[in-house]
Amino acid sequence: MSHTDPEPTGDKPLSKRLEWLEPRAIDLVFRSAPPEKLFANVVRARRSHRFIATASLEEVARVVRETLKADFVGHGEKQGRKLKAVLSAGALHPVKAVILRRNQAPIVYDDSVDQFLSVHVRDAVAFEAFLRTCETVLPDANGHWVALIADSRNVRRLYSNHESLVWRDAGAVIQLMALSAEAQEMAFCPLGVLGGEIVAALLPGTPEIIPVGVVALGRKAGD
Ligand SMILES: Cc1cc2nc3c(=O)[nH]c(=O)nc-3n(C[C@H](O)[C@H](O)[C@H](O)COP(=O)(O)O)c2cc1C
Repeated sequence: MSHTDPEPTGDKPLSKRLEWLEPRAIDLVFRSAPPEKLFANVVRARRSHRFIATASLEEVARVVRETLKADFVGHGEKQGRKLKAVLSAGALHPVKAVILRRNQAPIVYDDSVDQFLSVHVRDAVAFEAFLRTCETVLPDANGHWVALIADSRNVRRLYSNHESLVWRDAGAVIQLMALSAEAQEMAFCPLGVLGGEIVAALLPGTPEIIPVGVVALGRKAGD
């Protein structure tokens, strides 16, 4: 990890998709609208919840989407840049989310097209190792796990000493997801582990795809 200031390289971002295995678009129906709450109340009420009950995939996906949905996706000169509720160095938004639960197909949120994708597991042993790690860290969380994976290829291209930008972006995503969860009366807790096994489980190996955290999401179960 570099502690040296990042500097722009002057390069331009490239559009490169992540190589998910057999992605299939799934249509989720977001039925009831989340309750209207004052932002100040959401901010003050937010706490980490470690006793978590299972929510529906739609409820979890709504929190992920509220956090990572792009209001603007750049083309031409702005290729590779996005604007979202969450902030990001260079508007590159390297952090992606995958929703995971035992015995269910992983669900990826594709922020370029605002679409959820069901994907296949490449390495079942790594997938099991990921689930075991999460269950060990938060044994009372019976919700979904959301793995945060950074595609650092463009950040690296555009900035020297780029690593700290990626980590700061990941922190911003975790904070906004915590607030989005609270706004929707959902339970949320970050995990200290990075969830590295999930990258091996779902994607071909490359050092530029980095695990940057895992969070638990579900219904509040009282703690
Ligand atoms: C990066 C990060 C990792 C965390 N890892 C864990 C964890 O592994 N287990 C846990 O119970 N809480 C974890 N937390 C939650 C913190 O313990 C919690 O935010 C802190 O105690 C403050 O409490 P609050 O979130 O309820 O305000 C983590 C928080 C962050 C930001």
